[in-house]
Amino acid sequence: MAIGLFDSGLGGLTVMKELMRALPEEKFFYLADTAGSPYGHKSPDWIIERTLRSIDFLLQQKVDLIVIACFTASIYAQEIAQKKTPIPVIGMISPLFTESISTQKSVVLLGTRNTIQSGILQRLLVEKHPAIDLLSIPCPLFVPFIEEGWSDHPSLFLVADRYLAPAKEKEVLLLACTHYPLISSVIQRSLPQTQIINGTNWVAKKVQSLLPERARQSGPPSFYVTTDQARFQTLATSFLGISIPQVSCVELVV
Ligand code: DGL
Repeated sequence: MAIGLFDSGLGGLTVMKELMRALPEEKFFYLADTAGSPYGHKSPDWIIERTLRSIDFLLQQKVDLIVIACFTASIYAQEIAQKKTPIPVIGMISPLFTESISTQKSVVLLGTRNTIQSGILQRLLVEKHPAIDLLSIPCPLFVPFIEEGWSDHPSLFLVADRYLAPAKEKEVLLLACTHYPLISSVIQRSLPQTQIINGTNWVAKKVQSLLPERARQSGPPSFYVTTDQARFQTLATSFLGISIPQVSCVELVV
């Protein structure tokens, strides 16, 4: 079995790490569209096109299932992508997202500007938990810091303090961007009393339930970027804690 994942950069690795833990036998293909990063403020049409190209690339690797390991791309492109793709395409937007938290809580939701402005996750959360006290904060500067490898830089502490100041009283903080778990310690430093929940902790179970039973592809994960292999290789190696001997640079074509 082969599972293909993609994101604008490093963020989807947080999803892949969970999947590798849950499904150690599977072969993974990871595509980071680093040339297109960040996705967080780009237009829906642009994001749809990049998503379809990324999916085409992963299909060429003969994957059996694709995970759009990016909330922003999932919001605009998951449905369209699934219609055009003969294998399951899992996105980060699902009613299962709302099961990450229990009702009656005061919650702050963090995501990219596109994710927060779409209002889709807020709607899902309120439908499931009508009594929820919900605050949403877009944090567009987080992703460039992470992609730069500045995940513990003192300037990021200031950025986090500024974004999270209105969330001081919240019990739970829900991460709706796959990049943000990479800086959860920085976020926790700004909100020491708040419980941080990763909004993708349901994905591995969902993938497991959809994997078709048939001959497996196996082997170490393969990594692709659309620019800047060396930076990705260093940061991904450190985050995943595995050796990544090769990262290939590819062009996404229609
Ligand atoms: N990791 C992505 C997400 O979950 C995209 C972040 C970005 O490129 O702005 O939304």
